[in-house]
Parts: sequence; structure tokens; C-alpha cells
Amino acid sequence: MRVIYFYNEEWEKGFIAKKLPEHQFVFYAAPIEAHLDVRDADAEVLSIFVKTRVDGAVMDRFPRLKLIAARSTGFDHIDVAEAARRGITVVSVPAYGENTVAEFALALMLALSRKIRDASHRMYDEHLFSQEGLRGFDLKGKVLGVIGTGRIGQQVIKMARGFDMNVVANDPFPKDGIDGALGFSYVSLDDLFSQADVITLHAPHNEHTHHIINKNTLPKLKRGVYIVNTARGGLIETLALVRGLDEGIIGAAGLDVFELEEYLGAGEKNVLIPDETAPENVRTLLGNHYLIEHPRVIVTPHNAFNTLEAVERILDTTAENIRSFAAGTPQNIVNVGS
Ligand code: NAI
Repeated sequence: MRVIYFYNEEWEKGFIAKKLPEHQFVFYAAPIEAHLDVRDADAEVLSIFVKTRVDGAVMDRFPRLKLIAARSTGFDHIDVAEAARRGITVVSVPAYGENTVAEFALALMLALSRKIRDASHRMYDEHLFSQEGLRGFDLKGKVLGVIGTGRIGQQVIKMARGFDMNVVANDPFPKDGIDGALGFSYVSLDDLFSQADVITLHAPHNEHTHHIINKNTLPKLKRGVYIVNTARGGLIETLALVRGLDEGIIGAAGLDVFELEEYLGAGEKNVLIPDETAPENVRTLLGNHYLIEHPRVIVTPHNAFNTLEAVERILDTTAENIRSFAAGTPQNIVNVGS
């Protein structure tokens, strides 16, 4: 098959091509927006990472497309309904290291609870050896609220239990027996909001989870709650986060993901300047800017997945996804093309 592959790093090209010698690769540096002129009448596979949005207009450019191979767990950047309508199968990488993202969520939690960013700033920028204003709090004994108890959520629960945190969780599809085995309690979302000292999000982004934390839920939160989001930006209404931080309802936030993050500058570009392809939703983008600059917020550029081991596993699974689709036994299907 002819595979159009939007790569992030040069080494991926040799790595993936070597794994699939029977297929023909055409490589472009991501994102797809940088190659608006690219059309390919013979392409059957399109492989992309999270920053590349794939909608009907993109699919129009590859009229023989049969497979979209997302190199990510989430697939909210792909119009899967439109793909299905066109008979295009969408596959993703459902698991490549639940520990990888879980470790990062804990890293953000610890960075917030122990004021690591401010402490570094004190030494690096202020050149002062002083603890003033740097007092944190113990995670031990605090209540962690986990939204989504899938692969990553469960790893986070295990790690948090290792820190002697008390864990409550919410999931509309509770997993049998894991609460007893891992030592946490399933509670309603409202109870989680009222009990949690720290909330961490590990649910997919879809129409049910969009803005699961929003302006209306702010009054339900325990005052001063810390929020960590390594799932998807759309789970939190950006402007509610802004208001919550301003009013002291939210004590601090650790964010690896943002609403409309695909329009934030990447690589060499200044992250505070929206990409020129950005839509009119300036309020959200301005909200992101505010969060990035906020003294009580730690931000990272969608980096939770980014370990050596995890990135190689993503490409291994993507190669396997393409190979099995070509063999007529597709795996890791998000939405079957009809
Ligand atoms: P998973 O599919 O194993 O688990 C998701 C869980 O969320 C399931 O238990 C599901 O029942 C639950 N859920 C569904 N709707 C819910 C709702 N309304 N409220 C609460 N829970 C709900 O997914 P996994 O692998 O644990 O990934 C979780 C999130 O992490 C996804 O959003 C994914 O996109 C994101 N992610 C982020 C990465 C990063 O680099 N920042 C890397 C990998 C994944």
C-alpha cells in the first residue's frame, strides 16, 4: 500500500519504513497544514500524530484512502464519522505505556505540591537560597479524585496509593473488582468534586466528557483543589479554569494539554502567538495564554507520552496496525469503514 506519513522527527522515517518494507512510504514533515498543496490519488494509508487534524477536506485530498493510522491513543483530531461514511477505517494506538503518562501526571502533581517550578526560579533566576513562600503540602493522606479509570487512570491510582493518598474515582463504566484490588472507591462525579484535594483527568475527550469541568461545576469543587490534566484540553472549559484560579477555587493546575492546542505555536514558534490558521475562538486562546503565564500553573507542551520507550512502542504498534489492516485482519479499530 502507499502510505502518506506525516512525521515529527527524522529518525521515524527509517524506523517505520524498515518495519514495513512491503509498503511504499511518502514522508512529509508534520503538520499537514504545512503541506496544503499535497494531494495523492494513489494513497491508501494516512498516518498522523495528534497535531494533524483530519477532516473531510483532508480526506478529499487522498480519494483512495482506506486507512487512517493515528499514532496516538486519543483520536479526537480525526473526524471518525466522516471517515466511516467514506469507508475509511481509523486505527489508533490504544496502549503504549500507561505508566508513561501516569508517571507524568504524578510528576506534575509533585511539581505543584512541592512548588518545584518556583523553587527552581528562586535558584536559577533570582539567585537566592531562600525557602520563603516555597512551603508545599504532603500528598500522603490527601484525597485524589481520578476521572476515568482506564489504562492510565489505573496506573495513576496504583502510584498514588504508593504515596499513601486516599483515592476516589469516577467512571461511567466502572471496572469490576479493581476498586477493591487497587484500594480506591468509585463515587459520583459530584462527590469526587466535593472530596478531592487533587483531581487528575484520564478520560477520553468526546461529547459526553467535553468540559466535564466547567463554570457550573466550579462551586462543587473543594476550595483550593489542584487539577492535573494530561488527557485532553477539551475536558476542561479553559475560561472556567481561568476563573477558578482567579477566585481561589482552584489552587493550582498542571496542564499538559490545552483546548485548541493545535493552534499554539510549535517547535521554533512562540507558543504565545496563535497559529495563523487559528479560528475565531480567540477567547479560548487568550485563556490558554493566561494559563501559560499564570504563576500558579505549570504547563508542558503535550509531553506526557514522550519517553524513549513509549515513542518506540507507538511506532511498533502503528507498523503492526498497518500490516494487519493490509492482511485483512485490522486491529485497534476506532471506527470501521463501511
Ligand atoms: P482508556 O480508554 O484506557 O480509559 C479511559 C477511561 O475513561 C475508561 O475507563 C472509560 O470508561 C472512562 N470514561 C469514559 N467516559 C467517561 C466519563 N464521562 N467520565 C469519566 N470517565 C470516563 O484510555 P487511556 O489510555 O487511559 O487514556 C486516557 C486519556 O489520556 C485519553 O484522553 C488519551 O487521549 C489521553 N492521553 C494523553 C497523552 C499525552 O501525551 N498527554 C498520551 C496518551 C493518552
